[in-house]
Amino acid sequence: MKKTAIYPGSFDPLTNGHLDIIRRASKLFDEVIVAILINTDKDPFFTSEERVAMIHTSIGKNRPNVRVDTFRGLLVEYALQQQAHVIVRGIRAVSDYEYELQMALMNRRLEPQIETVFMMPAETYSYLSSRLVREISQFGGSVSGLVPYSVEEQLKKKTPQGTQ
Ligand code: PNS
Repeated sequence: MKKTAIYPGSFDPLTNGHLDIIRRASKLFDEVIVAILINTDKDPFFTSEERVAMIHTSIGKNRPNVRVDTFRGLLVEYALQQQAHVIVRGIRAVSDYEYELQMALMNRRLEPQIETVFMMPAETYSYLSSRLVREISQFGGSVSGLVPYSVEEQLKKKTPQGTQ
């Protein structure tokens, strides 16, 4: 049976840490769907279309078993629609664990047949987050090496100075 995993998140923007998890997950599962949450309550830095495009570019053509999609509403419902029974989440430090545990157990309560798998990115990315990337970029700092090149270029366009 084909094993499909959903890798959900805001990806606002995609970081090299996310990319690292996508690469690792694509080796473990037949198909990985990178699923961007469309959250109407939040005002995102990048539109969902921009995020889809950046993730596509960053993944490239070498990973045919990785697909990019958007979803609204409950993650477990989206997972079932996609016939995926695994949710992949990246865990960096112990501080991530409490929130992730809460989400994983709540998702299990909602849909017991869906399993959450935690994966660790390379330690180089253990302190990296989209929030910090946005902040550094907004104040004109360099995010080189923290995000894929296409994301870096898009961030430059969004910063007041237009350069970093
Ligand atoms: O990258 P993020 O912001 O940490 O991702 C959080 C995400 C998108 C995985 C989470 O907010 C989510 O699954 N939202 C969808 C709504 C839902 O299912 N909520 C119940 C989770 S227990």
